[in-house]
Amino acid sequence: MSWRLSVAPMMGFTDRHFRFLLRQISQGVRLYTEMIPDQALLHGDPQRFLDFHPQEHPLALQVGGSQPESLARAARLAKAWGYDELNLNLGCPSPRVQQAGFGACLMRDPLRVAECLGAMWEASRLPVTVKHRLGADELESYGYLASFVERLAQAGVGVFIIHARKAWLQGLSPKENRTLPPLRYAWVYQLKRDFPELLFVLNGGIKDLSEAEGHLRWVDGVMIGRAVCRDPFLLAEANSLVFGLAREVDRVEVVFKMAAYAEEQLQRGVPLKAIARHLLNLFHAQPGGKLWRRRLSELPTHAGPEALLEALEVIGAQASRGPGEGVKRSTSAETRLKEHGEERSEGFSSSSAGSA
Ligand SMILES: Cc1cc2nc3c(=O)[nH]c(=O)nc-3n(C[C@H](O)[C@H](O)[C@H](O)COP(=O)(O)O)c2cc1C
Repeated sequence: MSWRLSVAPMMGFTDRHFRFLLRQISQGVRLYTEMIPDQALLHGDPQRFLDFHPQEHPLALQVGGSQPESLARAARLAKAWGYDELNLNLGCPSPRVQQAGFGACLMRDPLRVAECLGAMWEASRLPVTVKHRLGADELESYGYLASFVERLAQAGVGVFIIHARKAWLQGLSPKENRTLPPLRYAWVYQLKRDFPELLFVLNGGIKDLSEAEGHLRWVDGVMIGRAVCRDPFLLAEANSLVFGLAREVDRVEVVFKMAAYAEEQLQRGVPLKAIARHLLNLFHAQPGGKLWRRRLSELPTHAGPEALLEALEVIGAQASRGPGEGVKRSTSAETRLKEHGEERSEGFSSSSAGSA
């Protein structure tokens, strides 16, 4: 199983529709859900939180919590639903999460974290990983970080995803906590030297795949967040650069696949807008990209999947007038949509696993 390249868990972004889109762009990239607090999972509607499309694999569920018993119950659900990995959030600094006693404030309590991770593994036998910071508040030294990693490794954790800045738990908003504390990539490189048998995935501030490639000389994997939201198609290069796959993708092809997916989803009551919002930046920095964005943001409430193909035709017409790439391939839109509909696989996993 590879952690070489992954897309970061991001609340409000990495829902199942965004993940499906990312999978159409890159076959190898590892995907994470948004963070789901264990209490929401156990007392809410698990199907709503856990369902995913079979094409999303490899896929990790990220949970938040600090009670071994409830995390173990969440882990059992993850296993039953067919997730490939279970990740514990130790990096979220939001006041609500702190109040509930999990996220980044758990960086103070490696013993409790080790207990939680042990319980999650016992309950699921899934690979259990952590996503954490370099430290929190005054706990800001390489020595503390290394002892934290060592303690968790003793509990059986083998994969550490590290947002390479500490968290300020007082006085900074979650957004500021993603920019203000300085990034210290060198600390993560050092961890790899000190614990060569463990896997380290570096996260924070990586803007594109050439930066990612640079880090991959020192660590086992990289995780990219905001840059993928700004430009999801940046992952297309990963197929050859990171995974050595010959497969090429193009944006038009991706839109057709998303239109077929949207057709399936609409039948389940998902509004097109819930899917189209993730496609807004698909033509980032491309001819017609702004027009595409505008068309998609102004979709009428009851728009169907053909609206995506119409938007494609509109920018195809525009692009063919300008110098850049031509996207005039969408001529027989309806036929292509049908073809992709026939190709798609069996739908959501909930029916087989929902009884858990
Ligand atoms: C909108 C947003 C939501 C986020 N939600 C989560 C989350 O649910 N779980 C988590 O571990 N990190 C979350 N993060 C942090 C990212 O996973 C990542 O660590 C951070 O953005 C730094 O990586 P980047 O510079 O590549 O974006 C979120 C970040 C953003 C921008």
